[in-house]
Amino acid sequence: MENIALEVKNVGRTFADGTVALQDVTFSIRQGEFAVIAGSNGSGKSVLMSLIAGLDEPSSGSITLHDCQAGLVFQEADAQILGETPEEDIAFGAKNCDLSKQQVAERVNFALSETGLTHKRSAYARMLSGGEKRRLAVAGILAMSRSLIIFDEPFANLDWPGVQQVCAIMKQLKEEGKTVLVLTHELEKVLALADRFMVLDKGQLVFDGTPADGLKENLEAWGIRNPLLACRSIEEMVWL
Ligand SMILES: Nc1ncnc2c1ncn2[C@@H]1O[C@H](COP(=O)(O)OP(=O)(O)OP(=O)(O)O)[C@@H](O)[C@H]1O
Ligand SMILES: [Mg+2]
Repeated sequence: MENIALEVKNVGRTFADGTVALQDVTFSIRQGEFAVIAGSNGSGKSVLMSLIAGLDEPSSGSITLHDCQAGLVFQEADAQILGETPEEDIAFGAKNCDLSKQQVAERVNFALSETGLTHKRSAYARMLSGGEKRRLAVAGILAMSRSLIIFDEPFANLDWPGVQQVCAIMKQLKEEGKTVLVLTHELEKVLALADRFMVLDKGQLVFDGTPADGLKENLEAWGIRNPLLACRSIEEMVWL
């Protein structure tokens, strides 16, 4: 049997105010698998990520990580900045990985260059643009070299080169055999990299299969735009 990296079993999360954010969600992710979980606003993606990350506890069910630690890129890039400068911020995570000073420096340089932030290495991190902050979050997890990486809405705020850079990093992580989980509704930017496609709707897992089979479903019913609906004229360039 292939190695399982992450097991989510009958997971539910109900908040104190009665909001049912997740209901009986069950799936497992194999080591080295690249999974995209789509879902509209409020479908439960970020709640699921905080449960997997151990930042919150499920109200029912269980989550098991097998022999791996998760590296997280949060939806709110600001929440993730700990250092004064990108250089310092990236080093924070790497220092927690039992590395020598020299190794930390090498990883910081590598992560800065991979995310196109080398020229901002000494800038004031809080003053970075929204897209630059997201690149910084990605740089941070690259430097930690975790075996399971979860991206929550990784494309929010990113320009075209920014999306390309993040996709190139995701592709590289996949080629290195890392397990990657991407939570997004922007399927057109990433689905080609996925081996697995899942959909969350109102806290429930309503589809789990291949990207090809997923695109045959009525995604609009779950509030997700089918990326095969491309524009061929200006008249079509409005989402109505
Ligand atoms: N601490 C909380 N207390 C009460 N309700 C919460 C809490 N956190 C999240 N929720 C609710 O849980 C549901 C799922 O939220 P979640 O943030 O996971 O959505 P999402 O799929 O990430 O949406 P988006 O695409 O907008 O990021 C929402 O209805 C949200 O209001
Ligand atoms: Mg979210």
